[in-house]
Amino acid sequence: QRHLISAADLSRDDAVLILDTAEEMARVADRPIKKLPTLRGRTVVNLFFEDSTRTRISFEAAEKRLSADVINFSAKGSSVSKGESLKDTAQTLEAMGVDAVVIRHGASGAPYRLATSGWIDAAVINAGDGTHQHPTQALLDAFTMRRRLVGRDAGLGRDLAGKHVTLVGDVLHSRVARSNVDLLHTLGAEVTLVAPPTLIPVGVESWPCEVSYDLDSTLPKCDAVMMLRVQRERMNAAFFPTEREYSRRYGLDGDRMAKLPEHAIVMHPGPMVRGMEITAEVADSDRCTAVEQVANGVSIRMAVLYLLLGGNEPAAAPLRAEEK
Ligand code: CP
Repeated sequence: QRHLISAADLSRDDAVLILDTAEEMARVADRPIKKLPTLRGRTVVNLFFEDSTRTRISFEAAEKRLSADVINFSAKGSSVSKGESLKDTAQTLEAMGVDAVVIRHGASGAPYRLATSGWIDAAVINAGDGTHQHPTQALLDAFTMRRRLVGRDAGLGRDLAGKHVTLVGDVLHSRVARSNVDLLHTLGAEVTLVAPPTLIPVGVESWPCEVSYDLDSTLPKCDAVMMLRVQRERMNAAFFPTEREYSRRYGLDGDRMAKLPEHAIVMHPGPMVRGMEITAEVADSDRCTAVEQVANGVSIRMAVLYLLLGGNEPAAAPLRAEEK
């Protein structure tokens, strides 16, 4: 059984295949009827133990566009609140014959445990685990960068070699940052992390990226800058940075955005805290791709589901099947 647990598990060719397949899937979104028969008769369960807006909705949209049967499970309102374990929850799903499990969990390593435990026979897709990994987020971010910085058609088959990407903010608690550093490195991009020293993880020296504490000197070299939310829910209240001091040094406002090269894009995985890491002026500007990233997430998740559950055929096969 194949799984998607970590962006670090993807080779350059795996990642480019997913990005190219997502371009094929994006054509479906441009049609009046946004549906393919590829996963008809397959069952996918969305197993969310942590809150989500974008990931959850876009996985569901992707599954429905591929005609899968979809089961949505939320820990809130389930027997997890009565103390049921991940193992018993997984075995309940196995008894129902699911083909894939999309899991978000607060514990780093929960998707890996599910994939390797033998509790279930389904493909496991990590939709975000603790501070560890969020591989489909990194893929949709890379897809957005490739489209904007290389081109939609020109990008096919290509990686992000030579592009400069800066991630700014709470790297310490960010699975998005870890996944992006891994995938961007695999795709040939140069990555810089900018954060207050207290929000840089111990051991960052072994990551394939540079670290800086000075946002202003980094911006003129960026092709893309990605702002990260300060994850207060994962912090002891005593360590909260003050909003004013944080945004003065690490927030992106209109004056700072003007320091970026003209072609550079501003990214945010969401949810955004306007006024903290990004001002409303920047979030609502044409250079900010936050909404585009959400739309691209559906294509990426369709591609991942197709490749894990449907696909030993060429990427265009599902489109051709529908056209017959
Ligand atoms: N980017 C992201 O994972 O957003 P959600 O937490 O809303 O899914």
